[in-house]
This record gives sequence, C-alpha cells and structure tokens, in this order.
Amino acid sequence: MKTTNIIKKAVLPAAGLGTRFLPATKASPKEMLPIVDKPLIQYAVEEALRCGIEEFIIITGKNKRAIEDHFDNAYELEERLKNSGKKKLLEELNKLKKINFAYIRQREALGLGHAVLCAKPFIKDEPFVVILSDDLIEPTYNFLGEMIEIYLKRKAPLVALTEVAGSEVHRYGIIDGFLEDNVYRIKDLIEKPEPSKAPSNLAIIGRYILTPDIFPFLQMQKPGAGGEIQLTDALNKMAKKIPIYGYPIKGKRFDAGDKLGYLKATIDFALLNPELSTEFKEYLINKVKAIL
Ligand code: G1P
Repeated sequence: MKTTNIIKKAVLPAAGLGTRFLPATKASPKEMLPIVDKPLIQYAVEEALRCGIEEFIIITGKNKRAIEDHFDNAYELEERLKNSGKKKLLEELNKLKKINFAYIRQREALGLGHAVLCAKPFIKDEPFVVILSDDLIEPTYNFLGEMIEIYLKRKAPLVALTEVAGSEVHRYGIIDGFLEDNVYRIKDLIEKPEPSKAPSNLAIIGRYILTPDIFPFLQMQKPGAGGEIQLTDALNKMAKKIPIYGYPIKGKRFDAGDKLGYLKATIDFALLNPELSTEFKEYLINKVKAIL
C-alpha cells in the first residue's frame, strides 16, 4: 500500500562495524544478515518502497560490497533459474533490479551523524527518510507510512520512539518531551545516557524523517558518545531552533543487530512464512515441551 510519494528519498546508513555481531560481521556486512531468506537491508528497502520511496542512498564502508552485489544484476544466476523453471525465485530477484540505488562510501566509521551528512549531495532541498536496517519492523505494519502522514501534517522532522526498560537507556538516543496529540514535541535528545541521567525511557529507534535543516548542524557537530559524530546530538541542537517530534511505535520492532533480538525476529518471521510456519511451529512446540 503506497501512502504517498511526496518523500522520495531514503538514506540507509550501512557503514557501521557491527561489533555486536562479531565474528559473523568481521568480513560481511551486518545489513546482509538474513532473517529467514532475506537480508535485513532488503526488508528496509521493501518497507520504504511500500511508502512510495523511489530512490535509495546507501552509505557503505569497508567490507560492505556484498550490499551492492545484492541489489545488482546476477546474469549467471538468473539464467540458471530461468533454465530450471524457478520462476518465482526469478521474479523475486527481478523485483530488485528496478530500484534506484546510489552508494556513497563513508571512508571512516565516524558515526551515524557523519553517515547521514555523507548523503547531503544527493538530498538537495527535499525531506528524506533515514532507515537503520537493524531495527526491523513487521512488514504488515505500515509504521513508516504513518510517520510520513504525520510529517505531511506537521512539516517538521520526526523520529520514531519506543519505550525501553531503565536498564536499556544507555543503548539508545533518549528524548525529553511532552505529548501533543499522538506525538511528542521534543525538547532534548541525549545519546546513550547513563540510566541516572536519562530524562525518560523513550528511546529513538531507526526511523527518522528529516529535512535538509539537519545538515548545517551535522557539519558543526563534534564527536560525542563513543567518540562518534552522533545524529542525536545534531538533532538536539536543531530542536532548540525548530520543532522536532517523536512518534511512538505501536507494533512490533526487533533489534536485529543484537543477538537476542535477531533470534526473536527469526522466530517471528519464520512463523509468518507460509512455506515454513506449520513445520516450524510443530518443531517449536516440541522444543518448548522438551525444555520445560
Ligand atoms: C543509533 C542511534 C541511537 C538510536 C539507535 C536505534 O545507535 O545513534 O540514537 O537510539 O540507533 O537503533 P546505534 O544502535 O547505532 O548505536
């Protein structure tokens, strides 16, 4: 279902080192980790396509070439699938060929803020979405579409939020704000605060709708948490000049960049997969019985 196509561009930062998933991510991108049979970054691209996004700017880094290959033509493989009558698989692969991608190489892993700044030459004066592939959202839930609707109404930058446990705030950007209808008007944003310094338990998750207003703030931004140029810090400065909003997610989101979150996502997505669900459910039931 296409919500609108007024926002046409998506920036997908994919240059991070994936340290939470080592050694799997030593030589391969974490964005290529599969959930059942599709890499994380493809779920992100498909989510954006469903909202009318037409152009994708992927910020890559070292050891990330597999991402470009994944969205490229694969003549030999396509020929084989054609010759062996594997039509459905071929269609799946062909869908990817129609999408417009631009790749920018972030030469050093200087942080999410710096990654977004790398997209500046491609954005010009349009609003855009930022999607972090390791925050995985169930494909049946049109959360990004809802965010775009809110952006169109308020014409102001918007970040996705979720409530997290107090012990988890140090892993996220945390906001301070107050409710205005169904969104939070954000006063402050703090990247990875110590639990005692967190102003709330409302954490930013990897969906943002931004405007080019962010770029001057990113250009001036000094390194923050972890010695990286943080998008949260630039947003915090921008929030003092123009309104920024936060929209809480209501459906399921998985932190697939984390081992436990990844396993949970795999189970949920496998149970939704028509080819696997019956046998997999049976396996799970027996497994649970055996360990109880
Ligand atoms: C990034 C952002 C953080 C946000 C998180 C959501 O952190 O810097 O503000 O809460 O994504 O997944 P990272 O997970 O890259 O450390």
